[in-house]
Amino acid sequence: MSTTILGIESSCDDTSAAVIRDGILLSNVIASQSVHEEYGGVVPELASRAHQQNIVPVVDTALKRAGISASDLNAIAFTRGPGLLGSLLVGTSFAKGMSLGLRIPIVDVNHLHGHVLSHFIRRKPDDIVPEYPFLCLLISGGNSQIILVKNYNDMEILGRTIDDAAGEAFDKCAKIMGLPYPGGPHIDRHAANGDPLKFKFAKPHIAGFDYSFSGLKTSFLYTLRDNVAIDPDFIAKNIDDLAASLQRTIIEILIDKLDKAVKATGVKTIAIGGGVSANSGIRAAIAEYCERRHLKAFIPERVFTTDNAAMVAIAGYFKYLDQQFCPYDAAPFARVGV
Ligand code: KG4
Repeated sequence: MSTTILGIESSCDDTSAAVIRDGILLSNVIASQSVHEEYGGVVPELASRAHQQNIVPVVDTALKRAGISASDLNAIAFTRGPGLLGSLLVGTSFAKGMSLGLRIPIVDVNHLHGHVLSHFIRRKPDDIVPEYPFLCLLISGGNSQIILVKNYNDMEILGRTIDDAAGEAFDKCAKIMGLPYPGGPHIDRHAANGDPLKFKFAKPHIAGFDYSFSGLKTSFLYTLRDNVAIDPDFIAKNIDDLAASLQRTIIEILIDKLDKAVKATGVKTIAIGGGVSANSGIRAAIAEYCERRHLKAFIPERVFTTDNAAMVAIAGYFKYLDQQFCPYDAAPFARVGV
């Protein structure tokens, strides 16, 4: 008998629904919200309203694209947190209502576990997935963590950022240069044409496996000031080199700590995840690092780096197999570690 799970993700500004059957992805629908663009960041109240508008058509489309009807589902997995509370409430309430109507269980998923477990989404049965244990470098707009993944439900955070996340370093430096929000993809694009060694920025000296990115942002700002007091012409002339040098520094910071963790744990498999893992420079650097050190690298498809319900469905699938269901009085949560 097959197991079919509907996943629902609504933690931030993407409404997404996906269907996974026996670990194989049947559909993954994502409705992104453009309403935030003019504000330079996500506006929580607008996000929850957009989720309310999107959730029914998104779930409906996911079922149709999967070629199934709601009665074929065994369970509904949903992101319970962390994220924006109002946004999470939409997905949580929808999952509860739909499960009551269908008389099937709900499974709650930690958004960060979803990112880590996205490597287990298979498009076809012979797709290769990581073996436990592995190290996951989870890099997003809100998190930068090195996680030792021992099992789908047993993860240990070895290191985390003590201030800004890697995504914030990209976004805040991009903002200084006048690039639109979120700046990460713009830095990525400019970096492709720039000289990564033209500018030198300060790197943190933090003990253990923890990260810090706030000093880099300050150093970036002062580099612009040293040359000419935040002169738009200077930025325009050097934007590719600034982006490439910034990206190189972020990559060096990330890989430096990852390498420490690899040496300390002896783990032979590395995975990356989260929105920042869409970055071309980071993807290439991780692949190169793993090849040099004879490690197995798992680099997710770009569609699975940002928020998506496929990762929620796969995480929910594993919990479902272990009969780990969620009570109906479970409330969403805004903040938590892994
Ligand atoms: O995981 P995610 O979608 O959500 C949050 O945790 O917020 O990550 C969003 C982050 C943003 O900081 C964005 O700038 C960054 O991922 N990002 C990138 C790229 N694509 C998205 N950063 C660098 N290069 C990219 N190509």
